[in-house]
Amino acid sequence: MAPMAPNRGSAITGWAMALPPTIVTNEDLSRYLDTSDSWIVDRTGIRERRVIYGPFAPRPADPLTWTSPPMGIGTTASLAIEAGRKALDAAHLGAEDIDLLILCTTTPDQAVPATSSVVQSALGLHCAAFDLNAACAGFVYGLVTAASFITGGAHRVLVIGSETLSRIVDWTDRETAVLFGDGAGAVVVEEVPGDSSLLGWDVGVDGQLQPILYADHGGSLQMVGKEVFRRAVRATVESSQAAMERAKVTPDDIALFVPHQANSRIIEAACARLEIPIERAAVMLDRTGNTSSASIPLALCEAVDAGRVADGDLILMSGFGAGMTWASAVWRWCSDPFQDCAERPASG
Ligand code: COA
Repeated sequence: MAPMAPNRGSAITGWAMALPPTIVTNEDLSRYLDTSDSWIVDRTGIRERRVIYGPFAPRPADPLTWTSPPMGIGTTASLAIEAGRKALDAAHLGAEDIDLLILCTTTPDQAVPATSSVVQSALGLHCAAFDLNAACAGFVYGLVTAASFITGGAHRVLVIGSETLSRIVDWTDRETAVLFGDGAGAVVVEEVPGDSSLLGWDVGVDGQLQPILYADHGGSLQMVGKEVFRRAVRATVESSQAAMERAKVTPDDIALFVPHQANSRIIEAACARLEIPIERAAVMLDRTGNTSSASIPLALCEAVDAGRVADGDLILMSGFGAGMTWASAVWRWCSDPFQDCAERPASG
């Protein structure tokens, strides 16, 4: 890595997403679970999700006894590889340009080694790599970590949120099975001349709350839904406020709010308390469900690709998750920081 330099800015110069092809609708779920499309939509806002594992994954035999991964259909690594490769292409960068890979995931493919090793190798990277597990706050933790590495000397960091929650969901439990899905989102965070795009951030965890949302090795997700809901709204609001305060901005300054995609009622409640109009929120969970650390980069990619942010706009990202973790960041959008200036620095 290059030596440390003061005032090294950072920007997101490439972004991309990957979703497994299998779509599971609420109707599909209500065919074998005691649930309904109207219950799921009313209570969560979710209409469908993408999955790799579980009763609807392409595989032979009995849905509810099927557990092992269908070979060749996908893993946390394969989703990460697809999103990561597309993000590098979008940034017009090659594998040799990346100094660090941060793979944010709460569903690694193996206990050992880290899934980032598999992704690093498949993408042809020759850089440092590690997994980051901060549950659904993972991607924003990763973004803050990437910007810090850039301040410390790295030129370009690939941050990927990738999850296969369908592997740790109990498909017979209607209280959790309807909520989660699989996917990946990736961004290239790059050293740029001038100020950092990361204007303010807040990360944290309250470890005393770990019993309200957890999965043991080999077990499935266990959740005290109402308590998670209550804490999630509070964490999103307080953490977002802290990040905005440190960035010296107000909710009026936020052009796009990208909250963790867990439940549309959590997003609505957070928007109301933050006084951010709901129209400024990025919402993708109706088509993805809760994809944990992939949810914020997925919603960010969709909003950016839809033209919802212009250069100079402020984006507030805020996640919460098992732990309970939280993380928020205020980010000034600038997709092409090199357009008016000299060449990019060589990789370190
Ligand atoms: N379909 C139909 N009924 C369901 C159901 C389903 N999929 N899941 C639960 N129910 C039932 C419950 O059994 C309960 O029945 P009862 O009244 O006979 O006991 C009833 O619906 C109401 O359940 P309740 O828990 O009060 O619903 P809720 O309004 O709190 O919504 C959640 C449940 C899970 C959607 C909501 O609490 C939530 O989103 N929590 C946060 C979850 C989350 O974000 N987790 C990830 C964090 S990263």
